[in-house]
Amino acid sequence: MQKVSIGIDLGTSGIKALAISSSGEAIAEASASYPLLTPQPGWTEQHPADWVAAARAVLTEITAKLAGYEIVGLSTAGQMHGAVFLDANLEVLRPAPLWNDQRTAQACAEIERAIPRAELIRRTGNPAVTGFQLPKLVWLRAAEPENFAKTRHVLLPKDYLTLQLTGELVTEPSDASGTGCLNLETQNWDLEILKALDLPPSLFPSVVPSSFVAGALNSIWAQATGLRTGLPVIAGAGDNAGAAIGLGLSSARPGVGSVSLGTSGVIFLPLEKPTVDPEGRVHLFCHADGGYHFLGVTLAAAGSLQWFKDSLATDTSFDTLMTEAASVPAGSEGLLFLPYLAGERSPHLDPNVRGAWIGLSLAHHRPHLVRALLEGVAFSLADTLEVMRPLAPLEKLLSIGGGSKSDLWLSIVGSILGVKLERPDFEEGPARGAAVLALVGAGVYPNVAAALEATAPKSVDFPTTSDAAYQKSLERYRAAYPAIKAIGN
Ligand code: XUL
Repeated sequence: MQKVSIGIDLGTSGIKALAISSSGEAIAEASASYPLLTPQPGWTEQHPADWVAAARAVLTEITAKLAGYEIVGLSTAGQMHGAVFLDANLEVLRPAPLWNDQRTAQACAEIERAIPRAELIRRTGNPAVTGFQLPKLVWLRAAEPENFAKTRHVLLPKDYLTLQLTGELVTEPSDASGTGCLNLETQNWDLEILKALDLPPSLFPSVVPSSFVAGALNSIWAQATGLRTGLPVIAGAGDNAGAAIGLGLSSARPGVGSVSLGTSGVIFLPLEKPTVDPEGRVHLFCHADGGYHFLGVTLAAAGSLQWFKDSLATDTSFDTLMTEAASVPAGSEGLLFLPYLAGERSPHLDPNVRGAWIGLSLAHHRPHLVRALLEGVAFSLADTLEVMRPLAPLEKLLSIGGGSKSDLWLSIVGSILGVKLERPDFEEGPARGAAVLALVGAGVYPNVAAALEATAPKSVDFPTTSDAAYQKSLERYRAAYPAIKAIGN
């Protein structure tokens, strides 16, 4: 029987399961969605029970599609940074605040009072970031003391699913480095940070390498899904590291990264060693292959375009908007867009800044607005790449995410970033990376490097040209952030 592994991506809007063969070929998939709760402005939460119900549904569906295959292992990737608070009986105490939740500004200030920002960046790779897990715990202590008093464990979203599947409290470095209290050198909890914040280390699960077995599938899940009891459940990865594993990005080959044009825009660059930007303008996390990676996030990338269509062009297709934008010359005839519709992560780490079109004139029309928007997202990514460039080798980026299917947008991005681009030739995503890690944990490959070698997708060169028109716009873009911040909103 042909061997397959299953990877799960526990996302923000839904969950996906993907089965791959040992050579990385997609065999079957299933998906389900769940609601996002926004109980107060700036708050985002989900019910962990919704993830669990959806996971059961997709595992049942995919298992039925895999009759005739030998399922060797299962692993999870998922949305990073969330906090599932559990009591002594491993019961969920309240809905889980998510990665994009903004309630923790005060908690971040408290953390940076206890551990000076530069020290925090040196130890964990990042300053205190509102979305991260540690500030959520500090927030809980101040805002919901009765829940905090009952809290015995705090888990990341995908690790909560692993707990349900296996009964084990386990995490792994790629996701754990997004909590804000993992020491990058040791790839384990930073006990001095926890001590400075008066938090017991016992709150946190044990950290094992991403491709290690976290536990065995219990009989309840086996009966519910059709999988076999005892199936190895592998620790997995945060969704960004998971997606990178799925693309074959290895910290042993640091010049090859990715640029994603999804709802948010992401630049991922693998690193062999923890190389900190002392100002913490881009994230430094552990990769799922034992190394490290930079991560830069433009919060509203394709999200900006979606907003434009929903609010200003409901009756027009994306294709039409793109064709219109292609008719405008590079530089949008002086029109500039700042994509800070939801604040900005990299490189400004500023949840309060807001977007703008700058330089509007009577000569500008809808096609200019769209072209400027596409260019503005690329300028934001260029701002991020500029921080990484002196710190890491850069040879090429694999382009992923819905927006990268547009030749126009990708050529704008390639030209503004000034880097060689390639498009992978199959559907990418965190579930694939989780499935690759499962192949390692199940013993099909001796290590992650060998699995990457065997499963990495082929990519097709995407030719880009450089256009001098963008240089002036980029300079204006860089001058615009401090100005718009000074004006406020
Ligand atoms: C990364 C980040 C997001 C989440 C949600 O820092 O916040 O990519 O992992 O998917």
